[in-house]
Amino acid sequence: MKHQKFWMAADAVCEKAADGVQQLSKAAENAAQTARRQLSSMTERSAYQEYCASAEYLRAILGEFEPEVLMILGSGLGFLGDAAEDPIYVDYADIPYFKHSTAPGHRGRFVFGKLKGKNVAIMQGRMHTYEGYSMDEVSYAVRVAHLLGIEKMIVTNAAGAVRDSFAPGDIMLITDHIKLGACSPLTGPNIEEFGVRFPDMSHAYAPALQEIARSCARELQITLREGVYMFFPGPQFETPAEVRVARILGADAVGMSTVPEVITANHCGMDVLGFTLCANMAAGILDQPLTEADVLDAAENAQAHFSALVCACLEKL
Ligand code: HPA
Repeated sequence: MKHQKFWMAADAVCEKAADGVQQLSKAAENAAQTARRQLSSMTERSAYQEYCASAEYLRAILGEFEPEVLMILGSGLGFLGDAAEDPIYVDYADIPYFKHSTAPGHRGRFVFGKLKGKNVAIMQGRMHTYEGYSMDEVSYAVRVAHLLGIEKMIVTNAAGAVRDSFAPGDIMLITDHIKLGACSPLTGPNIEEFGVRFPDMSHAYAPALQEIARSCARELQITLREGVYMFFPGPQFETPAEVRVARILGADAVGMSTVPEVITANHCGMDVLGFTLCANMAAGILDQPLTEADVLDAAENAQAHFSALVCACLEKL
């Protein structure tokens, strides 16, 4: 009887101790969760502050000039920047926290100025994931442009044509894109100041701007192809098998850029107009190897048409 009492008392003590431990570990878990939340909001805040610092630097240089349209020009297509009136040049390397482009054919600077009556911020050179940048680094400039008050973006690229009926030199209006696998520029804590956690991508390429492009092409009598651009991270060109997969999935062109910037632009509510210059037929379509020189040659040959179309659209944006 004595023993029984003893064990009952001991049980009660143990139960209390277990309760205490459980409460302690709950409190510890809560404290850890709060710390994690605080840490994550600190990283968010510091990332946001980096974008703000870049924008502040540019604002100080631009003074009264308020850019309206961001133009991101792809391989060999940066020549449009040379047409801007009263240009203000800013090297990416001079902008705090800005990433620099190292790809051939990319100059690595902003040209701010007037083009076709619009105040533009032209990127002569862009960043790519194959240079080692993350997707959000690649599209860093888009958020800075948003902070400068820019609401529209024209993006161009050179790519491989997947659709058999396209030919090198064709210009394709991008109506949609495909990005499988690789992560998103929005991966990580969402920065609420830019947009929502799960942005809609139903109209990644603004239908109204697509209409403008169609009507400008008609007026200029330029044949405008239309299609879906599929993102491949590169830097190697695709294999013929990958190109066949892209075609089955509904792609009309394959390339190594544009999609990160377009996702980021949609996240912060910008309207996007996108063009692809079909520099070559994608791998395996013709019996010839792909070279970077061919891509740059094709871009150079298409300069007149391409710049005429992009400038006509810009005028009507
Ligand atoms: N694939 C990917 N990117 C490209 C190509 C291509 O065939 N041509 C120009 N950029």
